[in-house]
Amino acid sequence: MHRRHFLAGLAAAGMGHAFDPARTILAQATTTQPRSPDVIFVPTPNDVVNKMLEMARVTAKDVVYDLGCGDGRIVIAAAQKYGARGVGVDIDPQRIKEARQNASRGKVNDKVRFIEGDLFETDISEATVVTLYLLTELNLKLRPKLMKDLQPGTRVVSHAFAMGDWKPERTENVDGSSVYLWRIPPRQA
Ligand SMILES: C[S@@+](CC[C@H](N)C(=O)[O-])C[C@H]1O[C@@H](n2cnc3c(N)ncnc32)[C@H](O)[C@@H]1O
Repeated sequence: MHRRHFLAGLAAAGMGHAFDPARTILAQATTTQPRSPDVIFVPTPNDVVNKMLEMARVTAKDVVYDLGCGDGRIVIAAAQKYGARGVGVDIDPQRIKEARQNASRGKVNDKVRFIEGDLFETDISEATVVTLYLLTELNLKLRPKLMKDLQPGTRVVSHAFAMGDWKPERTENVDGSSVYLWRIPPRQA
């Protein structure tokens, strides 16, 4: 095909701009880049995971969301120990890959799923238990979303980091690590 006809074909298909360097650079600059994590991956030790699930009184009726799920250990343990359904959310694709592999190894693929995405943008409304191991400032940033999206009575458990002036219902210490439990309060009339 002659170059003139080829370019005319692209233009007709709405793709003529592929040859415009300025437009290509602009497109690259405005394409949504994956956000970097707000906090690095540090796994919760297994005895702390067990305490978090115990404090939340997880049962087979629960849907446990771990926001920033890392290698998926909390939702995998919730499925293995209690038969709960679990959803892990992590912004780092490597963590999601590991979590899915761990769920396969742990034979709980039918109970858990993992979402690659920003925890602040994820629909968490079906959660009956939310687990966190973030930072105090991230907990505080997340607090309005928890209050808005979660049903009253939903349990929120955080490893190591509190929620400012939202006083926990229970606090426990496991090998030097604090674990906090809150319950979403009834909606204001
Ligand atoms: C401290 S690790 C906790 C991992 C796991 N929850 C645990 O307790 O073992 C925090 C995780 O949050 C993830 N993360 C950080 N910012 C995030 C964001 N905005 N959205 C989703 N995941 C995020 C990181 O990639 C990391 O895996």
